Amino acid sequence: MLESIHVTASAPGKTILFGEHAVVYGKPAIAAAVDKRAYVTIKGRADNRTHVTVEELGVSGFLDLENGTINSDKVGEQNRGILEYVLKSLIKAQTTRSVEVTVKLDIPIGAGLGSSAAVTVATIMAASSYNQINITAHEIAELAHQVELDVQGAASKIDTTLSTHGGVIYLSKNAREFVNLEIDYPLPMVIGHTKKTGNTGKLVELVRKKIEAQPAVMNPIFDSMEAIVNVARKALVNGEHETIGLIMNINQGLLDAIGVNTEELSNMVFTARKAGAIGSKITGAGGGGSIIAYCPGRVEEVVTKINQHEKAFQINIATEGVRLE
Ligand code: PMV
Repeated sequence: MLESIHVTASAPGKTILFGEHAVVYGKPAIAAAVDKRAYVTIKGRADNRTHVTVEELGVSGFLDLENGTINSDKVGEQNRGILEYVLKSLIKAQTTRSVEVTVKLDIPIGAGLGSSAAVTVATIMAASSYNQINITAHEIAELAHQVELDVQGAASKIDTTLSTHGGVIYLSKNAREFVNLEIDYPLPMVIGHTKKTGNTGKLVELVRKKIEAQPAVMNPIFDSMEAIVNVARKALVNGEHETIGLIMNINQGLLDAIGVNTEELSNMVFTARKAGAIGSKITGAGGGGSIIAYCPGRVEEVVTKINQHEKAFQINIATEGVRLE
């Protein structure tokens, strides 16, 4: 009987609009959930083995829920990560029966778009529903954050909060609170991403070393990033397009200054501006990964130009967070 029950949940990825890196030092940040989602389907299995398939990555493996281990020799280190998130999420959602899990990703991996948080949040919701456990959005976000901490060692709550609740959030100083920003107009944005992925941990470390070496030079940069986030908050809520673009470009200059830019990212930033974006900057950790461009009226042009050398696609804000399909 159980094999016939199917549950699918989906959750959106995210993009950091302003304040990456500065947020590590207690500064505020603004991030948005995006309309690229992770879909997780859970159904019962007749045998007593739990199995996961991630279609886009060609990854699959058996999970031992009792001992919390992955049994797969076919997975490389990078791909193993995603199975860890699924395993820990199934356990957090009190899964004891063996299940078949299928993950479908609309979100590119390693592009700083929060694919692991989206998979985690969607798995917790799908498994809770499959296990007939009532769970609130708040509880999903908390459990998902614990999974991220377990797997990664350290994690901010930005990704799991956005994957759970959707929308645009302002994370206040020292991560004291998340404020939902009401933005009632479309934000025409484009993501461009390079094949080369940045390593968030290494980039955070690189920035930390620079601060240690040159605090008098670096600290004012972070103060400026804080000012940018606070200007952005008002500009976004009021739909001040020119201001949004202007401060994105200033933010990009500062991200370059702290050393997280690369030639590929820089090329995409300038390509986007040449094609009509009024603002463009790195999104997330940098060192590879993605840029975001703000392009009212010029989305097509920006996507086409970036696609000549890298990969680009339009994104919209996902107002809806995790949901059952
Ligand atoms: O690209 P991501 O999702 O890894 O973003 C990292 C953002 C940082 O501010 C650089 C690090 C962090 O933990 O906030």
